[in-house]
Amino acid sequence: MSHYNGRGVECLSQATASRRLISHSGPCTADRFPRMDPSLDVSLDRSSSEPLSAQIASNLRVAIHEGRLAPGARLPSWRDLAARLGVGRGTVRSAYDRLLDERLIVTAGAAGTRVAAQPERPEPAAEPIPAFNAPLSGVLHDFSAPPLPFEMGVPAQDAFPAKLWSRLRARALRTGAMSPVTYPDPRGAAMLRAQLAGYLAIARGIHCAPDQIVLTAGYRGGLGLTLAVLQLAGRAAWMEEPGYMVTRTGLQLAGLRPVPIPVDAHGLDVERGLALAPEAVLAVVTPGQQAPMGVAMSPARRQALLRWAARTRAWIVEDDYLSELQLQGRAAPALAAADRHGRVIHIGTFSKTMSPALGLGFVVAPLPLAERFAEVAGCLAPAPNLATQLAFAEFMAQGHYLRHLRHMKALYAQRRDALRARLGPQADVDAMAGLAVHLRLPRGSDDRAIAAEAVRRGIAPSAVSRWYADPQQDPRQRGLLLGVTNLNDARLGPACDTLMALLAQMR
Ligand SMILES: Cc1ncc(COP(=O)(O)O)c(C=O)c1O
Repeated sequence: MSHYNGRGVECLSQATASRRLISHSGPCTADRFPRMDPSLDVSLDRSSSEPLSAQIASNLRVAIHEGRLAPGARLPSWRDLAARLGVGRGTVRSAYDRLLDERLIVTAGAAGTRVAAQPERPEPAAEPIPAFNAPLSGVLHDFSAPPLPFEMGVPAQDAFPAKLWSRLRARALRTGAMSPVTYPDPRGAAMLRAQLAGYLAIARGIHCAPDQIVLTAGYRGGLGLTLAVLQLAGRAAWMEEPGYMVTRTGLQLAGLRPVPIPVDAHGLDVERGLALAPEAVLAVVTPGQQAPMGVAMSPARRQALLRWAARTRAWIVEDDYLSELQLQGRAAPALAAADRHGRVIHIGTFSKTMSPALGLGFVVAPLPLAERFAEVAGCLAPAPNLATQLAFAEFMAQGHYLRHLRHMKALYAQRRDALRARLGPQADVDAMAGLAVHLRLPRGSDDRAIAAEAVRRGIAPSAVSRWYADPQQDPRQRGLLLGVTNLNDARLGPACDTLMALLAQMR
Protein backbone atom coordinates (compact mmCIF):
# COMPACT_ATOMS: atom_id res chain seq x y z
CA MET A 1 0.00 0.00 0.00
CA SER A 2 2.74 2.41 0.80
CA HIS A 3 6.46 2.36 0.20
CA TYR A 4 9.55 4.46 0.77
CA ASN A 5 11.55 5.73 -2.13
CA GLY A 6 15.31 6.13 -2.00
CA ARG A 7 15.15 9.63 -0.30
CA GLY A 8 12.84 8.49 2.42
CA VAL A 9 9.80 9.68 0.48
CA GLU A 10 6.78 7.61 1.22
CA CYS A 11 4.20 7.27 -1.51
CA LEU A 12 0.72 6.00 -1.14
CA SER A 13 -0.22 4.33 -4.37
CA GLN A 14 -3.38 6.20 -5.16
CA ALA A 15 -4.59 3.49 -7.43
CA THR A 16 -4.83 1.35 -4.31
CA ALA A 17 -5.89 4.14 -2.04
CA SER A 18 -8.64 5.54 -4.18
CA ARG A 19 -10.23 2.13 -4.59
CA ARG A 20 -10.46 1.95 -0.83
CA LEU A 21 -11.54 5.56 -0.60
CA ILE A 22 -14.39 5.09 -3.00
CA SER A 23 -15.61 2.10 -1.13
CA HIS A 24 -15.58 4.31 1.98
CA SER A 25 -17.54 7.03 0.28
CA GLY A 26 -20.71 4.96 0.16
CA PRO A 27 -22.88 3.90 -2.75
CA CYS A 28 -25.12 6.90 -3.08
CA THR A 29 -22.32 9.46 -3.25
CA ALA A 30 -20.14 7.52 -5.67
CA ASP A 31 -22.55 8.24 -8.49
CA ARG A 32 -23.36 11.84 -7.70
CA PHE A 33 -19.78 13.04 -7.31
CA PRO A 34 -16.75 12.51 -9.52
CA ARG A 35 -14.28 10.07 -8.06
CA MET A 36 -10.78 10.85 -7.00
CA ASP A 37 -8.30 10.49 -9.82
CA PRO A 38 -6.74 7.04 -9.41
CA SER A 39 -3.32 8.40 -10.33
CA LEU A 40 -3.32 10.74 -7.31
CA ASP A 41 -0.21 10.29 -5.15
CA VAL A 42 0.33 11.56 -1.64
CA SER A 43 4.09 11.79 -1.15
CA LEU A 44 5.56 12.28 2.28
CA ASP A 45 9.20 13.05 2.97
CA ARG A 46 9.79 12.12 6.59
CA SER A 47 13.31 13.50 6.51
CA SER A 48 12.04 16.97 5.59
CA SER A 49 11.71 19.76 8.15
CA GLU A 50 8.29 20.56 6.65
CA PRO A 51 5.57 19.17 8.96
CA LEU A 52 3.72 16.12 7.62
CA SER A 53 0.37 17.95 7.80
CA ALA A 54 1.76 20.70 5.54
CA GLN A 55 3.03 18.08 3.11
CA ILE A 56 -0.36 16.32 2.96
CA ALA A 57 -2.13 19.67 2.44
CA SER A 58 0.35 20.58 -0.26
CA ASN A 59 -0.18 17.27 -2.12
CA LEU A 60 -3.94 17.68 -2.08
CA ARG A 61 -3.72 21.36 -3.01
CA VAL A 62 -1.63 20.59 -6.08
CA ALA A 63 -4.01 17.79 -7.07
CA ILE A 64 -6.96 20.20 -6.80
CA HIS A 65 -5.25 22.96 -8.75
CA GLU A 66 -4.12 20.57 -11.44
CA GLY A 67 -7.65 19.18 -11.70
CA ARG A 68 -6.65 15.66 -10.65
CA LEU A 69 -9.11 16.11 -7.79
CA ALA A 70 -12.19 17.43 -9.53
CA PRO A 71 -14.72 19.82 -7.95
CA GLY A 72 -17.05 17.78 -5.73
CA ALA A 73 -14.65 14.82 -5.39
CA ARG A 74 -14.90 13.23 -1.99
CA LEU A 75 -11.82 13.07 0.17
CA PRO A 76 -11.11 10.13 2.47
CA SER A 77 -11.97 10.51 6.13
CA TRP A 78 -9.13 11.59 8.45
CA ARG A 79 -9.05 8.11 9.89
CA ASP A 80 -8.70 6.38 6.52
CA LEU A 81 -6.09 8.69 5.15
CA ALA A 82 -4.16 8.61 8.42
CA ALA A 83 -4.14 4.82 8.37
CA ARG A 84 -3.05 4.73 4.74
CA LEU A 85 -0.22 7.17 5.29
CA GLY A 86 0.83 5.83 8.66
CA VAL A 87 0.37 9.20 10.36
CA GLY A 88 -1.76 10.39 13.26
CA ARG A 89 -5.36 11.45 12.63
CA GLY A 90 -4.60 14.89 14.02
CA THR A 91 -2.02 15.31 11.27
CA VAL A 92 -4.57 14.67 8.52
CA ARG A 93 -7.12 16.80 10.32
CA SER A 94 -4.77 19.73 10.46
CA ALA A 95 -4.02 19.32 6.71
CA TYR A 96 -7.77 19.39 6.00
CA ASP A 97 -8.21 22.43 8.24
CA ARG A 98 -5.68 24.31 6.15
CA LEU A 99 -7.48 23.42 2.93
CA LEU A 100 -10.80 24.43 4.52
CA ASP A 101 -9.28 27.82 5.45
CA GLU A 102 -8.13 28.18 1.86
CA ARG A 103 -11.68 27.31 0.72
CA LEU A 104 -10.35 24.50 -1.45
CA ILE A 105 -12.47 21.88 0.31
CA VAL A 106 -15.80 21.90 2.14
CA THR A 107 -17.27 19.69 4.83
CA ALA A 108 -20.83 18.60 4.44
CA GLY A 109 -21.72 16.55 7.53
CA ALA A 110 -22.50 12.96 6.65
CA ALA A 111 -21.64 13.65 3.01
CA GLY A 112 -18.01 13.91 4.15
CA THR A 113 -15.31 16.23 2.97
CA ARG A 114 -15.28 17.25 -0.64
CA VAL A 115 -13.36 19.38 -3.06
CA ALA A 116 -15.11 22.74 -3.26
CA ALA A 117 -17.42 23.24 -6.21
CA GLN A 118 -15.28 26.12 -7.46
CA PRO A 119 -11.97 25.87 -5.67
CA GLU A 120 -10.20 29.21 -5.58
CA ARG A 121 -7.38 29.10 -8.06
CA PRO A 122 -4.09 30.80 -7.36
CA GLU A 123 -3.68 34.15 -9.13
CA PRO A 124 -1.66 33.80 -12.32
CA ALA A 125 1.96 34.77 -11.69
CA ALA A 126 2.13 38.55 -11.53
CA GLU A 127 4.33 40.50 -13.89
CA PRO A 128 7.67 40.95 -12.17
CA ILE A 129 7.94 44.41 -10.60
CA PRO A 130 10.34 46.45 -12.73
CA ALA A 131 13.56 47.41 -10.99
CA PHE A 132 13.67 51.05 -9.89
CA ASN A 133 16.31 53.20 -11.47
CA ALA A 134 16.45 55.72 -8.63
CA PRO A 135 19.87 55.86 -6.99
CA LEU A 136 18.80 54.70 -3.54
CA SER A 137 22.00 52.81 -2.86
CA GLY A 138 23.62 55.82 -1.16
CA VAL A 139 20.89 56.05 1.50
CA LEU A 140 21.29 52.75 3.29
CA HIS A 141 24.22 51.79 5.49
CA ASP A 142 24.84 50.16 8.86
CA PHE A 143 22.55 52.25 11.07
CA SER A 144 23.66 50.52 14.27
CA ALA A 145 27.24 51.83 14.10
CA PRO A 146 28.08 54.87 16.28
CA PRO A 147 29.28 57.97 14.37
CA LEU A 148 32.94 58.00 13.36
CA PRO A 149 35.24 61.02 13.78
CA PHE A 150 34.71 63.64 10.99
CA GLU A 151 31.27 62.19 10.17
CA MET A 152 28.91 64.93 8.99
CA GLY A 153 25.24 65.36 9.79
CA VAL A 154 25.23 64.00 13.36
CA PRO A 155 25.30 66.17 16.48
CA ALA A 156 27.80 65.69 19.33
CA GLN A 157 27.08 62.40 21.05
CA ASP A 158 28.47 63.68 24.34
CA ALA A 159 26.35 66.85 24.51
CA PHE A 160 22.81 65.54 24.13
CA PRO A 161 20.86 66.45 27.30
CA ALA A 162 19.93 62.83 27.87
CA LYS A 163 18.81 63.02 31.53
CA LEU A 164 16.63 66.08 31.08
CA TRP A 165 15.17 64.73 27.87
CA SER A 166 14.29 61.34 29.34
CA ARG A 167 12.58 63.09 32.30
CA LEU A 168 10.51 65.31 29.99
CA ARG A 169 9.69 62.43 27.73
CA ALA A 170 8.60 60.18 30.58
CA ARG A 171 6.26 62.93 31.77
CA ALA A 172 4.96 63.44 28.22
CA LEU A 173 4.35 59.71 27.90
CA ARG A 174 2.26 59.79 31.08
CA THR A 175 0.28 62.79 29.81
CA GLY A 176 -0.20 61.05 26.45
CA ALA A 177 -1.40 57.87 28.16
CA MET A 178 -4.04 59.87 30.07
CA SER A 179 -5.35 61.72 27.02
CA PRO A 180 -8.36 60.49 25.04
CA VAL A 181 -7.69 57.48 22.84
CA THR A 182 -8.39 59.22 19.58
CA TYR A 183 -6.69 60.59 16.48
CA PRO A 184 -4.53 63.59 17.33
CA ASP A 185 -4.35 66.69 15.11
CA PRO A 186 -2.38 65.59 11.99
CA ARG A 187 -0.57 68.96 12.04
CA GLY A 188 0.88 68.16 15.45
CA ALA A 189 0.25 69.24 19.04
CA ALA A 190 -1.14 72.79 19.32
CA MET A 191 1.19 73.43 22.26
CA LEU A 192 4.31 72.74 20.22
CA ARG A 193 3.07 74.65 17.17
CA ALA A 194 2.44 77.68 19.41
CA GLN A 195 5.94 77.38 20.92
CA LEU A 196 7.44 77.13 17.44
CA ALA A 197 5.56 80.15 16.11
CA GLY A 198 6.99 82.22 18.97
CA TYR A 199 10.48 80.85 18.50
CA LEU A 200 10.48 81.39 14.71
CA ALA A 201 9.47 85.04 15.10
CA ILE A 202 12.40 85.75 17.42
CA ALA A 203 15.09 83.47 16.02
CA ARG A 204 14.35 83.27 12.29
CA GLY A 205 12.32 86.43 11.63
CA ILE A 206 9.32 84.41 10.42
CA HIS A 207 5.95 85.76 11.55
CA CYS A 208 3.40 83.00 11.15
CA ALA A 209 0.32 81.66 12.90
CA PRO A 210 0.55 78.27 14.64
CA ASP A 211 -2.00 77.06 12.08
CA GLN A 212 0.57 77.51 9.31
CA ILE A 213 2.87 75.01 11.02
CA VAL A 214 2.76 71.27 10.44
CA LEU A 215 5.03 68.98 12.48
CA THR A 216 6.85 66.43 10.35
CA ALA A 217 9.32 63.58 10.54
CA GLY A 218 12.32 65.89 10.15
CA TYR A 219 13.26 67.72 6.97
CA ARG A 220 12.67 64.67 4.81
CA GLY A 221 9.14 64.28 6.13
CA GLY A 222 8.59 67.97 5.42
CA LEU A 223 9.94 67.68 1.89
CA GLY A 224 7.74 64.66 1.17
CA LEU A 225 4.68 66.49 2.51
CA THR A 226 5.50 69.60 0.47
CA LEU A 227 5.96 67.65 -2.75
CA ALA A 228 2.67 65.86 -2.12
CA VAL A 229 0.97 69.24 -1.68
CA LEU A 230 2.53 70.95 -4.70
CA GLN A 231 2.00 68.07 -7.18
CA LEU A 232 4.78 69.06 -9.57
CA ALA A 233 5.62 65.66 -11.08
CA GLY A 234 7.16 65.98 -14.54
CA ARG A 235 8.36 69.56 -13.95
CA ALA A 236 11.87 70.96 -13.51
CA ALA A 237 13.32 72.05 -10.15
CA TRP A 238 16.43 74.12 -9.46
CA MET A 239 18.72 72.23 -7.18
CA GLU A 240 21.89 73.62 -5.64
CA GLU A 241 25.13 72.33 -7.20
CA PRO A 242 26.75 71.14 -4.97
CA GLY A 243 23.73 70.18 -2.93
CA TYR A 244 22.19 67.69 -0.54
CA MET A 245 21.98 64.35 -2.34
CA VAL A 246 18.93 63.27 -0.35
CA THR A 247 16.99 66.25 -1.73
CA ARG A 248 18.11 65.41 -5.27
CA THR A 249 16.94 61.81 -4.94
CA GLY A 250 13.76 62.90 -3.14
CA LEU A 251 12.84 65.22 -6.02
CA GLN A 252 13.44 62.44 -8.51
CA LEU A 253 11.32 60.02 -6.48
CA ALA A 254 8.47 62.53 -6.61
CA GLY A 255 8.79 62.61 -10.40
CA LEU A 256 10.52 66.01 -10.68
CA ARG A 257 13.57 66.74 -12.81
CA PRO A 258 16.26 68.34 -10.64
CA VAL A 259 18.45 70.72 -12.65
CA PRO A 260 21.82 71.46 -11.01
CA ILE A 261 22.35 75.23 -10.65
CA PRO A 262 25.84 76.34 -9.56
CA VAL A 263 26.38 77.83 -6.13
CA ASP A 264 29.06 80.49 -5.65
CA ALA A 265 30.15 82.66 -2.73
CA HIS A 266 26.69 84.32 -2.73
CA GLY A 267 24.61 81.15 -2.81
CA LEU A 268 22.55 79.74 -5.69
CA ASP A 269 23.22 81.67 -8.92
CA VAL A 270 19.72 82.79 -9.95
CA GLU A 271 20.89 84.14 -13.34
CA ARG A 272 22.36 80.74 -14.19
CA GLY A 273 19.12 79.13 -13.08
CA LEU A 274 17.20 81.32 -15.52
CA ALA A 275 19.62 80.37 -18.29
CA LEU A 276 19.75 76.65 -17.53
CA ALA A 277 16.11 75.91 -16.68
CA PRO A 278 13.77 78.86 -17.25
CA GLU A 279 10.85 76.43 -17.15
CA ALA A 280 11.51 75.41 -13.52
CA VAL A 281 8.57 75.60 -11.12
CA LEU A 282 10.49 74.94 -7.91
CA ALA A 283 13.82 75.78 -6.30
CA VAL A 284 15.16 73.98 -3.24
CA VAL A 285 17.77 76.04 -1.41
CA THR A 286 19.71 76.16 1.85
CA PRO A 287 20.02 79.95 2.15
CA GLY A 288 21.02 80.08 5.82
CA GLN A 289 24.19 77.98 5.40
CA GLN A 290 24.52 76.35 2.03
CA ALA A 291 24.81 72.56 2.23
CA PRO A 292 27.61 71.60 2.09
CA MET A 293 29.72 74.72 1.47
CA GLY A 294 28.28 76.83 4.28
CA VAL A 295 27.90 80.19 2.49
CA ALA A 296 24.92 82.32 3.46
CA MET A 297 22.86 83.46 0.48
CA SER A 298 23.52 87.15 -0.09
CA PRO A 299 20.68 89.69 0.25
CA ALA A 300 20.83 90.43 -3.50
CA ARG A 301 20.49 86.77 -4.42
CA ARG A 302 17.65 86.33 -1.95
CA GLN A 303 15.78 89.19 -3.58
CA ALA A 304 16.46 87.83 -7.07
CA LEU A 305 15.19 84.39 -6.09
CA LEU A 306 12.06 85.76 -4.43
CA ARG A 307 11.36 88.00 -7.44
CA TRP A 308 11.75 85.03 -9.80
CA ALA A 309 9.28 82.97 -7.74
CA ALA A 310 6.74 85.81 -7.53
CA ARG A 311 7.01 86.57 -11.25
CA THR A 312 6.79 82.99 -12.53
CA ARG A 313 4.57 81.71 -9.70
CA ALA A 314 7.23 79.17 -8.85
CA TRP A 315 7.73 77.72 -5.36
CA ILE A 316 10.80 77.90 -3.16
CA VAL A 317 11.56 75.25 -0.56
CA GLU A 318 13.82 76.66 2.12
CA ASP A 319 15.79 73.89 3.85
CA ASP A 320 16.75 75.55 7.14
CA TYR A 321 18.55 72.45 8.42
CA LEU A 322 20.99 74.28 10.70
CA SER A 323 18.58 76.98 11.83
CA GLU A 324 20.48 79.20 14.28
CA LEU A 325 23.39 76.81 14.59
CA GLN A 326 25.84 79.11 12.89
CA LEU A 327 29.37 79.16 14.26
CA GLN A 328 30.47 82.47 12.74
CA GLY A 329 28.51 85.50 13.89
CA ARG A 330 24.76 85.69 13.97
CA ALA A 331 22.66 83.38 11.83
CA ALA A 332 21.19 85.05 8.75
CA PRO A 333 17.39 85.40 8.92
CA ALA A 334 15.28 82.87 7.09
CA LEU A 335 14.43 83.48 3.44
CA ALA A 336 10.76 83.02 4.37
CA ALA A 337 11.05 86.13 6.56
CA ALA A 338 11.40 88.29 3.42
CA ASP A 339 8.74 86.50 1.36
CA ARG A 340 5.95 88.98 0.58
CA HIS A 341 4.18 86.84 -2.03
CA GLY A 342 3.67 83.56 -0.18
CA ARG A 343 6.04 81.55 -2.38
CA VAL A 344 8.41 80.15 0.26
CA ILE A 345 7.77 76.89 2.07
CA HIS A 346 10.09 76.90 5.06
CA ILE A 347 11.22 73.51 6.41
CA GLY A 348 12.97 73.23 9.76
CA THR A 349 14.38 70.21 11.57
CA PHE A 350 15.74 69.33 15.01
CA SER A 351 18.04 66.68 13.57
CA LYS A 352 21.11 68.93 13.77
CA THR A 353 20.28 71.07 16.78
CA MET A 354 19.05 68.13 18.93
CA SER A 355 19.21 64.65 17.40
CA PRO A 356 18.10 62.94 14.19
CA ALA A 357 16.76 60.17 16.43
CA LEU A 358 13.93 62.51 17.55
CA GLY A 359 12.64 62.44 13.99
CA LEU A 360 11.10 65.87 14.44
CA GLY A 361 10.84 68.78 12.04
CA PHE A 362 8.22 71.17 10.74
CA VAL A 363 6.93 72.99 7.71
CA VAL A 364 5.76 76.60 7.73
CA ALA A 365 3.26 76.82 4.90
CA PRO A 366 2.39 80.13 3.20
CA LEU A 367 -0.99 81.19 4.56
CA PRO A 368 -3.05 80.36 1.42
CA LEU A 369 -1.60 76.83 1.42
CA ALA A 370 -1.97 76.15 5.16
CA GLU A 371 -5.24 74.27 4.87
CA ARG A 372 -3.98 72.22 1.97
CA PHE A 373 -0.90 71.21 3.98
CA ALA A 374 -3.14 70.16 6.88
CA GLU A 375 -5.33 68.11 4.56
CA VAL A 376 -2.40 66.30 2.93
CA ALA A 377 -0.77 65.73 6.33
CA GLY A 378 -4.05 64.17 7.48
CA CYS A 379 -4.02 61.76 4.54
CA LEU A 380 -0.37 61.02 3.88
CA ALA A 381 1.97 62.38 6.53
CA PRO A 382 0.48 62.89 10.01
CA ALA A 383 2.70 64.54 12.62
CA PRO A 384 5.09 62.10 14.31
CA ASN A 385 4.91 60.62 17.80
CA LEU A 386 2.84 62.76 20.17
CA ALA A 387 4.96 62.12 23.28
CA THR A 388 8.06 63.43 21.48
CA GLN A 389 6.14 66.54 20.45
CA LEU A 390 4.85 67.20 23.97
CA ALA A 391 8.28 66.65 25.50
CA PHE A 392 9.84 68.99 22.98
CA ALA A 393 7.18 71.65 23.60
CA GLU A 394 8.09 71.49 27.30
CA PHE A 395 11.81 71.58 26.45
CA MET A 396 11.21 74.81 24.54
CA ALA A 397 8.78 76.33 27.03
CA GLN A 398 11.24 75.89 29.90
CA GLY A 399 13.98 77.66 27.93
CA HIS A 400 16.15 74.55 27.55
CA TYR A 401 16.22 74.70 23.76
CA LEU A 402 17.78 78.15 23.56
CA ARG A 403 20.28 77.22 26.27
CA HIS A 404 21.12 74.00 24.45
CA LEU A 405 21.67 75.90 21.17
CA ARG A 406 24.02 78.37 22.88
CA HIS A 407 25.95 75.47 24.39
CA MET A 408 26.22 73.63 21.04
CA LYS A 409 27.42 76.75 19.24
CA ALA A 410 30.20 77.29 21.77
CA LEU A 411 31.15 73.61 21.80
CA TYR A 412 31.30 73.27 18.02
CA ALA A 413 33.24 76.52 17.59
CA GLN A 414 35.78 75.24 20.10
CA ARG A 415 36.02 71.86 18.29
CA ARG A 416 36.41 73.62 14.94
CA ASP A 417 39.26 75.79 16.27
CA ALA A 418 40.97 72.76 17.79
CA LEU A 419 40.74 70.94 14.47
CA ARG A 420 42.16 73.83 12.48
CA ALA A 421 45.02 74.19 14.94
CA ARG A 422 45.75 70.48 14.75
CA LEU A 423 45.69 70.39 10.94
CA GLY A 424 48.30 73.14 10.99
CA PRO A 425 48.98 76.07 8.66
CA GLN A 426 50.14 73.88 5.77
CA ALA A 427 46.67 72.29 5.34
CA ASP A 428 44.62 73.96 2.59
CA VAL A 429 41.61 74.59 4.76
CA ASP A 430 38.70 76.60 3.46
CA ALA A 431 36.14 78.50 5.47
CA MET A 432 33.69 76.58 7.63
CA ALA A 433 31.21 74.52 5.70
CA GLY A 434 28.24 74.38 8.06
CA LEU A 435 29.45 72.23 10.93
CA ALA A 436 32.42 70.91 8.95
CA VAL A 437 35.83 72.15 7.86
CA HIS A 438 36.50 72.03 4.13
CA LEU A 439 39.94 70.60 3.39
CA ARG A 440 40.96 71.18 -0.23
CA LEU A 441 42.88 68.39 -1.93
CA PRO A 442 45.50 68.82 -4.65
CA ARG A 443 44.22 68.72 -8.24
CA GLY A 444 43.67 65.22 -9.53
CA SER A 445 42.96 63.73 -6.08
CA ASP A 446 40.26 61.10 -5.98
CA ASP A 447 38.32 62.31 -2.94
CA ARG A 448 35.84 59.44 -3.09
CA ALA A 449 38.58 56.81 -3.01
CA ILE A 450 40.20 58.66 -0.09
CA ALA A 451 36.88 58.86 1.79
CA ALA A 452 36.24 55.15 1.20
CA GLU A 453 39.68 54.18 2.48
CA ALA A 454 39.24 56.54 5.46
CA VAL A 455 36.16 54.63 6.60
CA ARG A 456 38.17 51.41 6.56
CA ARG A 457 40.59 53.18 8.91
CA GLY A 458 37.88 54.31 11.31
CA ILE A 459 37.31 57.95 10.27
CA ALA A 460 34.54 59.29 8.03
CA PRO A 461 35.30 62.49 6.11
CA SER A 462 32.82 63.23 3.29
CA ALA A 463 34.09 63.55 -0.31
CA VAL A 464 33.11 66.97 -1.69
CA SER A 465 32.52 65.50 -5.16
CA ARG A 466 29.72 63.32 -3.74
CA TRP A 467 27.64 66.45 -3.26
CA TYR A 468 27.71 67.27 -6.99
CA ALA A 469 25.27 65.86 -9.52
CA ASP A 470 28.14 65.75 -11.99
CA PRO A 471 31.44 65.16 -10.18
CA GLN A 472 33.35 65.22 -13.48
CA GLN A 473 32.61 68.87 -14.14
CA ASP A 474 35.31 70.71 -12.29
CA PRO A 475 38.50 69.45 -10.60
CA ARG A 476 38.08 72.11 -7.91
CA GLN A 477 35.19 70.04 -6.66
CA ARG A 478 37.60 67.63 -5.01
CA GLY A 479 38.13 67.88 -1.28
CA LEU A 480 37.10 66.50 2.08
CA LEU A 481 34.52 67.81 4.51
CA LEU A 482 35.57 67.14 8.08
CA GLY A 483 32.62 67.23 10.47
CA VAL A 484 33.65 68.78 13.78
CA THR A 485 30.68 67.88 15.95
CA ASN A 486 32.11 64.66 17.38
CA LEU A 487 35.77 65.67 17.65
CA ASN A 488 36.15 65.74 21.40
CA ASP A 489 39.60 66.06 22.96
CA ALA A 490 40.15 62.31 23.08
CA ARG A 491 39.26 61.73 19.44
CA LEU A 492 40.82 64.75 17.76
CA GLY A 493 44.50 63.74 17.84
CA PRO A 494 44.18 60.12 16.70
CA ALA A 495 41.60 61.09 14.02
CA CYS A 496 43.89 63.78 12.56
CA ASP A 497 46.92 61.48 12.65
CA THR A 498 44.98 58.80 10.75
CA LEU A 499 43.82 61.36 8.19
CA MET A 500 47.28 62.85 7.63
CA ALA A 501 48.86 59.41 7.24
CA LEU A 502 46.17 58.47 4.72
CA LEU A 503 46.58 61.66 2.70
CA ALA A 504 50.37 61.29 2.61
CA GLN A 505 49.98 57.73 1.39
CA MET A 506 47.35 58.48 -1.26
CA ARG A 507 49.19 61.50 -2.67
C1 LIG B 1 21.06 69.84 3.78
C2 LIG B 1 20.36 69.03 4.79
N1 LIG B 1 19.06 69.21 4.99
C3 LIG B 1 18.39 68.51 5.95
C4 LIG B 1 19.03 67.58 6.72
C5 LIG B 1 18.29 66.90 7.84
O1 LIG B 1 17.31 66.09 7.43
P1 LIG B 1 16.35 65.36 8.50
O2 LIG B 1 15.66 66.41 9.30
O3 LIG B 1 15.43 64.63 7.63
O4 LIG B 1 17.21 64.51 9.37
C6 LIG B 1 20.37 67.33 6.51
C7 LIG B 1 21.07 66.30 7.29
O5 LIG B 1 22.17 65.90 7.03
C8 LIG B 1 21.06 68.08 5.54
O6 LIG B 1 22.37 67.91 5.32
